[in-house]
Amino acid sequence: MTYNIRKFSIQDRADVRRLCCETAFLESDRGLIFKDDELLADFLSLYFTDFEPHSCFVATDGSKVVGYLIGSIHIPRMKRIIKRRILPSLLVKVFYRKAFLNKTNLNFFFRCVLGFFKGEFLVPDYSKEFPATLHINIDKSCRGQDIGGRLIEVYINFLKQQQIKGVQLSTFSEKAKNFFLKMGFDILYARKRSYLKSVIAGEVTSYVFGKKL
Ligand SMILES: CC(C)(COP(=O)(O)OP(=O)(O)OC[C@H]1O[C@@H](n2cnc3c(N)ncnc32)[C@H](O)[C@@H]1OP(=O)(O)O)[C@@H](O)C(=O)NCCC(=O)NCCS
Repeated sequence: MTYNIRKFSIQDRADVRRLCCETAFLESDRGLIFKDDELLADFLSLYFTDFEPHSCFVATDGSKVVGYLIGSIHIPRMKRIIKRRILPSLLVKVFYRKAFLNKTNLNFFFRCVLGFFKGEFLVPDYSKEFPATLHINIDKSCRGQDIGGRLIEVYINFLKQQQIKGVQLSTFSEKAKNFFLKMGFDILYARKRSYLKSVIAGEVTSYVFGKKL
């Protein structure tokens, strides 16, 4: 099978959002954790697809999107936009979609708040040395065919052209951990998180990886 890697275009948005939901929460049954794909996709991908699409790439098989890498070259700006523009509108959306009336979602919100107060979401700021970030996901049926590796390579070349000196990312997948180590990333930080405890056995470890360019 030959796959094409190209820049993201707005026509890919729905596919990216679908893949994003399918691979969320370590690919466990997401309906047991959070029941609203629209909100989930907004939370995970909206900044990248709508505010920085020029830093995003997709892998295609013909016209079908089989993987994506969504990125940002400026984490502080990304955080500012998420805080000032995305989170407030997401909060409104949570209310008008009545997402909080669902028991599963309430449980998830409660666990996130608990995790927040336990300090589980606090991560050191690496954005000076590693100003860029990425999220990558490949369709389950297309993994192990060098698509992820090629997307990382294309993104790193793109970052080098922009003279970005480092890239970081977060994941709590042990499988992805080995992939990123193979791609030359180093572990900068690791911390246990408990908010998925009810659905994924035990606590998961959240990793931050970094690679100097
Ligand atoms: C992790 C992921 C992006 C890897 O993409 P992929 O297309 O399957 O990986 P590739 O085939 O390009 O592999 C590239 C190299 O990494 C290695 N690799 C891939 N997955 C690996 C794993 N789980 N453990 C160890 N090595 C791995 C491959 O062997 C290959 O090495 P080689 O070049 O020496 O043969 C993909 O499996 C995925 O989307 N997983 C689910 C979602 C996820 O965890 N995303 C990351 C969170 S941000």
